[in-house]
Amino acid sequence: MNRTQHCNELRPEHAGQTVTLVGWVHSRRDLGGVLFIDLRDREGRTQTVFDPADLSKEVFETATHLHSESVIQLTGQVRLRPAGTENSKIPTGRVEVLVKELVVLNNAAVLPFPVDDPEVANKVNEELRLQYRYLDLRRPEMIRNLRLRSKVAIATRSYMDGQGFLEVETPTLFKSTPEGAREFLVPNRREAGTFYALPQSPQQFKQILMVSGVERYFQLARCYRDEDLRADRQPEFTQVDIEMSFIDREDIYSLIEGLLKRVWKTALDVDIPTPFRRISFEEALNRWGIDKPDTRFGMELVDFTEDFRASSFKVFSGAIANGGVVKALNAKGLAGATQGQIETMTEYAKSFGAKGLAFIKVENGEWKSPIVKFFSEAEKAALTAKLNIEQGDLILFAADQWLNACEILGKIRLYCADVLKAQGKLVIDPKQFNFLWVIEFPLLGFDREMNRWYSSHHPFTAPVAEDIPLLKTDPKKVRGQHYDIVVNGVELGGGSIRIHQPDVQKTIFEDLLQIPPDETQSRFGYMLEAFKYGAPPHGGIALGFDRLCAILCGTTSIRDVIAFPKTAKGVCLMTESPSPVTARQLRDLHIEVKAAPKKDQPGAPAQA
Ligand code: AMO
Ligand code: AMP
Repeated sequence: MNRTQHCNELRPEHAGQTVTLVGWVHSRRDLGGVLFIDLRDREGRTQTVFDPADLSKEVFETATHLHSESVIQLTGQVRLRPAGTENSKIPTGRVEVLVKELVVLNNAAVLPFPVDDPEVANKVNEELRLQYRYLDLRRPEMIRNLRLRSKVAIATRSYMDGQGFLEVETPTLFKSTPEGAREFLVPNRREAGTFYALPQSPQQFKQILMVSGVERYFQLARCYRDEDLRADRQPEFTQVDIEMSFIDREDIYSLIEGLLKRVWKTALDVDIPTPFRRISFEEALNRWGIDKPDTRFGMELVDFTEDFRASSFKVFSGAIANGGVVKALNAKGLAGATQGQIETMTEYAKSFGAKGLAFIKVENGEWKSPIVKFFSEAEKAALTAKLNIEQGDLILFAADQWLNACEILGKIRLYCADVLKAQGKLVIDPKQFNFLWVIEFPLLGFDREMNRWYSSHHPFTAPVAEDIPLLKTDPKKVRGQHYDIVVNGVELGGGSIRIHQPDVQKTIFEDLLQIPPDETQSRFGYMLEAFKYGAPPHGGIALGFDRLCAILCGTTSIRDVIAFPKTAKGVCLMTESPSPVTARQLRDLHIEVKAAPKKDQPGAPAQA
């Protein structure tokens, strides 16, 4: 074979042995005529020494001219490094290999960016990293991410197998069911004008598998959504997708708690306490202003509606008279914010629909604010008591309809936390993982523009049994049997107990979501049909696998845990896709393209 050891394996006890290593030239140092090459493979690094006294002139010459990242094989003798030259940072740091033979397996051209120096590599712009992803993936931290992802996938499979789940693959050429995110379509050559769609998730297939009697299904499923991309969203991503029959919500909670416990232990050797805290949607909004609260720090929202109902500050009392609320938060330590910083924060709040962002700065024993003059003593006392106001505090207010007020302050809370983190006033332990279940979501939301209800999760989610009568009288109040799993402010996954009675499903589609019966039939007819023939009660969940890995790797971007991710514009810079196709391909697919691709688009011909 090519090698006797990997580059992380040699120790003082190997001294005297002849070994053969293969790998990449990680770095080179020329010290007084003796050449030191750090050889790297997937597992680690070993220092090797080329001493002209021990080598033919030719071999030494070759070594001298090796470019970084060339692929070599070398044979030599392991020896202890001289005292004082050990490197305690790497496991092989007490030894080196005195090279006797060298084979250049492949010379490398000069690299577009260095991969050996983490300081430099971390500053390389991400577009360049993505264009040369194969080089980027050579960096030890990227290898570590891929390794961890693989470990988590294997631990997941093993846990699910132990719990009696079958891994079943479902199609990725699916049917268009315009629901939720926009879909990717695949034209059908055999019949003009018909298309497959890539699935947004295996939702419908997994429910059908329950009708089939599979009882416990899981899959590491690839999903496709043509939505606006961000650090935590890719057009194709992976879910740990799960569905079970004859269960209730508690079964899902304990299954997932067990899975995450196993995963955290395997990946990080961390014991996470279970069961996880449960918070209702309403409480999450009331206290943190978001349905995926980061509970690792305080700054909770406090309600002042009753305190300001009769206030002479009309911005507040007026909002309350309109059926709204007044909420506030205390950003401790931010009283020093300048006028400009407060304006920036106000503009940020306005970008989420805030009408303003009233504030009080508590500095030098004074409440500095344009609005305090309107406050009564009782109002001030209520603020002091409920917000625990002290020197150095910045109090921020939202007066609006309940959901808006909560969401605006929820964004401001996260914004303030970022400022406090940057100033070193808020320090979060990277090993802290606050898991929680968010439950009791409303089943439906109301779309004012379209004047109709929409499903908060998806239309297959079952209402809480005791709320079913409200479907006809007060749909807004109906709670769904939906749950989200959240960790440190990240929505890791979500799922629900499903509707398994075809008549209830039909009511949701037709009466509430107002999908016309013929459309219900063409889109979901096969499901309604399947449900007629003995559908067991069932439910499930899907965890975002990329998000899971990102959290475990301590990164905020899922691109760091996906081997070949796409940019925010949905482009793969390495392969330059998407790209134009030939006229003949289009003809075969019965497609006529009206607009030519822009010249600067990746994949477009360089010259027309
Ligand atoms: P949902 O749409 O909530 O539920 O998705 C489940 C989880 O998938 C992850 N996720 C994403 N990750 C990366 N990029 C994306 N574009 C992206 N979109 C979603 C999130 C999310 O929590 N079929 C239902 C699940 C069910 O009801 O069982 C579903 O797909 O982490
Ligand atoms: P105005 O009376 O509009 O000048 O507003 C006085 C202060 O209250 C300013 O600091 C505004 O940013 C703030 N403000 C206005 N409307 C709201 C609102 N709905 N919620 C919170 N603060 C507001």
